[in-house]
Amino acid sequence: LFLDFVCLTDVNAEVGQATLEGFQKTYGKDNAIFSRCNVVNEADFTGVFESIKSKYGKVDILVNNAGIIEEKNWRRTIDVNLVGMMQGTYLGIENMSKEHGGDGGVIINVASSAGLQPVFFSPAYCASKFGIIGFTRSWADNPSNAHNGLRFCCLCPAFTETNMMNISENSTLSIEATKKFIEYVGVNKISTVAEGFMDLLTDETNNGAVMAVTAREGIQYKIRK
Ligand SMILES: NC(=O)c1ccc[n+]([C@@H]2O[C@H](COP(=O)([O-])OP(=O)(O)OC[C@H]3O[C@@H](n4cnc5c(N)ncnc54)[C@H](O)[C@@H]3O)[C@@H](O)[C@H]2O)c1
Repeated sequence: LFLDFVCLTDVNAEVGQATLEGFQKTYGKDNAIFSRCNVVNEADFTGVFESIKSKYGKVDILVNNAGIIEEKNWRRTIDVNLVGMMQGTYLGIENMSKEHGGDGGVIINVASSAGLQPVFFSPAYCASKFGIIGFTRSWADNPSNAHNGLRFCCLCPAFTETNMMNISENSTLSIEATKKFIEYVGVNKISTVAEGFMDLLTDETNNGAVMAVTAREGIQYKIRK
């Protein structure tokens, strides 16, 4: 796989800028940009596509990855995880589809193992991730994909060693009980999730695929046509 250019986005400009510097050091100054975007803000999201198109001309890979887990702020969890991902997907279709002058491509939506099974201590997060899978699979089944050149996939990691594992703020359970549950399930290495992601990205025959990544069972296609 050869990527010409990458546009990184995040609501947190500090993190985005630092990540951009890392990318530019490795891949060259002209090969990456950062565009700040709050995924719940339609104008921000439209601006990202505009800045990509003015610099690179087109988009052929879109990854909707932004996510939060805030059970006490459950509306926001739905807004960021589900509505933000839907907004990104609609803009992706508008900009990438052959019907609209694009070259087609792939849209990967990051769900979670919480999109495949209930999680009693984070019901709102779970609802948002079930929603992502239903929405993505519905688009994957759309007959127009045959001529618009698009494919749609879901990546569903279980617990993974990122900032999201700061459980003190996130769970409706006590910290101790949540830690025990996490210990029981196990924690993915980021490199394993990245390996699964690359597989989803490069396999052009996998429209509609839902891939799980767990510490116990590794990378597994849960749905694959
Ligand atoms: N880490 C895990 O255990 C785990 C497990 C399953 C799924 N996931 C999913 O993986 C994805 C990535 O999460 P992560 O583990 O890297 O966590 P993370 O907290 O490290 O990264 C999430 C990123 O999303 C950004 N973000 C939050 N709200 C945003 C908004 N409104 N607009 C734009 N960006 C926003 C944050 O600034 C942060 O950089 C999420 O969708 C998450 O639900 C994570």
